[in-house]
Amino acid sequence: MQYKVREEILSMKRYVAGKPISEVKRELGLDTVVKMASNENPMGASPKVKEAIERTLLDISLYPDSGSYSLREELSKRTGRPMAEIFIGGGSDSLIKVISSTFLKKGDEIIMGAHSFSRYEDNALLMGATVVKTSMEDLTIELDAMEKAITEKTKIIYLCNPNNPTGSSFGKEAFEGFIAKVPKDVMIIVDEAYREYVTREDYFDATGYLDAYKNLIVLRTFSKAYGMASLRVGYGFANEELAGYFYRVVDPFDVNLFAQEAAVAALKDEAFLGEVVAENTKGKEFFYKELEAMGLPYVVTDANFILWDTKRDDMDIFHRLMKKGYIIRPGGFLGIPGHIRVSISTMENNHGFMKAYKEVLQEMDEA
Ligand SMILES: Cc1ncc(COP(=O)(O)O)c(C=O)c1O
Repeated sequence: MQYKVREEILSMKRYVAGKPISEVKRELGLDTVVKMASNENPMGASPKVKEAIERTLLDISLYPDSGSYSLREELSKRTGRPMAEIFIGGGSDSLIKVISSTFLKKGDEIIMGAHSFSRYEDNALLMGATVVKTSMEDLTIELDAMEKAITEKTKIIYLCNPNNPTGSSFGKEAFEGFIAKVPKDVMIIVDEAYREYVTREDYFDATGYLDAYKNLIVLRTFSKAYGMASLRVGYGFANEELAGYFYRVVDPFDVNLFAQEAAVAALKDEAFLGEVVAENTKGKEFFYKELEAMGLPYVVTDANFILWDTKRDDMDIFHRLMKKGYIIRPGGFLGIPGHIRVSISTMENNHGFMKAYKEVLQEMDEA
């Protein structure tokens, strides 16, 4: 049977997600498995989120509000941006697809860092667009290289800040210099999925530039610091006209009612968010200290994960760690061989991981 599948689909590959805990337990016969592969929140979600979901169970038979009114209202209150500029989707993954569908067609180009979030690329390819990847010598996004890569075909530039999978970020001054030079018909997407974890002092809130730059879109998510990855809710900011186009494209019931109510509750629990960020910062310092002691170069991170050069075969490390019950992300899956990306977890898990990692290195030396 010759299916008439679009040629764009034929050239695409399936996304390789971090292995689920249940799969590793099943395959390796392990009782305890710790996942440090997908930058999930080891502290879970706020108890207020769970209460909101329980309350909402009564309305399980109803379609959700396709305009996510309460959530947009709460976000507007907190950010000072008008509700009409706020759009909601089933995770920022969904919003990346919506933006790609809104702008891209065959012959168009997007620009992204050589080691950045792979969904930018996948969704551009889906639309038949060409992906231009710019150099990241120090595993940080090089805004100068991006500016040089702009052509008449460029429709979108993705700035992942902090960047996944490297954890690096750029500050206000670099961004201001860059955005002023980008042609006004090229969309700049600042993906701030990890913004809550940032500790660098010159980090900036990209929504502050929406009035000055109508070609700016800012993306955020409830999947990381708010611990709601399974609920699938992401949000974005763009000028009203653009947000209107996105609402034409997004599935009307993309964001279920539980996700909407849970997100409102999550925003209101600022104390929980504070605890999550403090635990992450502690974990980050722990990894820095350990890796420095081992002489392994790491990327300074502003996110809830850390990437380092293992100086060894990362796939071998990945498999050996898995046998010990730790799932991480090998650089081989991310286009950065030799490196591994580890999600920062609770201090107990961080210690457990480091012990297992040292055992693995010893095993490899002895092999
Ligand atoms: C940079 C970045 N953007 C967006 C996403 C998608 O997040 P979600 O679809 O869960 O909101 C991720 C998830 O890992 C990410 O790392």
